[in-house]
Amino acid sequence: MSTLTIEGLHASVAGREILSGVNLEVAAGEVHAVMGPNGSGKSTLAHVIAGRSGYENLSGSVRLDGRELLRMPAWQRAEAGLFLAMQYPTEVPGVSLLDMLTESVRTPEDTAVGELMAGEAERIGFDEQFLQRPVNVDLSGGERKRNEALQLGVLKPAFAVMDELDSGLDVDALRIVAGRIEEATEHEGLGVLAITHYSRIFAHLRPDAVHVFAGGRIQESGGAELADELEAEGYERWTAALTADPDDAVPQAFTDPFGDPFADQLA
Ligand SMILES: Nc1ncnc2c1ncn2[C@@H]1O[C@H](COP(=O)(O)OP(=O)(O)O)[C@@H](O)[C@H]1O
Ligand SMILES: [Mg+2]
Repeated sequence: MSTLTIEGLHASVAGREILSGVNLEVAAGEVHAVMGPNGSGKSTLAHVIAGRSGYENLSGSVRLDGRELLRMPAWQRAEAGLFLAMQYPTEVPGVSLLDMLTESVRTPEDTAVGELMAGEAERIGFDEQFLQRPVNVDLSGGERKRNEALQLGVLKPAFAVMDELDSGLDVDALRIVAGRIEEATEHEGLGVLAITHYSRIFAHLRPDAVHVFAGGRIQESGGAELADELEAEGYERWTAALTADPDDAVPQAFTDPFGDPFADQLA
């Protein structure tokens, strides 16, 4: 059984610590939801796990079946079985989706990548014309998310980190795309870390655990009912506790749009 283990993860970007001690374990076939307010560091967590450049790992570890991912370049992490569905999937001009996936799928029995892609495209209602076109170029937000799901269906990773997969998808598309991922967890043992603001995706992708992420770490964990509670009540309970700490308080000049930005923050 595959397991993704995150322990004591601290990381910074642009000289500021964003992840402050993340601990999390996801087993094969499980879906763990990470929900938190804007700017709390959710995408940073996704990027640090996947190995995007520009992030500094300060301490801790991220292991896939005991292998330390933090020491590997991004491509090696992918080879080890990790997949990242990005919040804002990037355009790759000049490279078709077919070429990209043909290069990525290396096992000999999967040589008919084109057929595999066409099958996946049909399953999730992704227009086949996009398979030949440059990756994500001129695609709508929803089409990009379908594209991420198609790649996942073809690459069959052991673990997927999905950063706001639900954003940009209408209700029908959400049902189809999230349903495809749910199927992969059931039939292929895919483990999922699903980052989101909203619980609506969990009607189709059933979480085994829900984690509240605020202030750069997991503040509370629970079952699916916690997602509904967050949807109804928001994150105030956790963010209020954070700003109550004087060390974490946001200087007045930054919260007041008419405040003097050059004022002495400590005055
Ligand atoms: N490349 C970067 N350079 C500078 N600051 C960044 C960068 N990436 C993220 N941040 C900052 O880190 C914080 C967390 O961002 P992010 O992880 O995107 O939050 P979330 O996904 O939870 O909305 C924000 O304050 C954001 O401005
Ligand atoms: Mg984000």
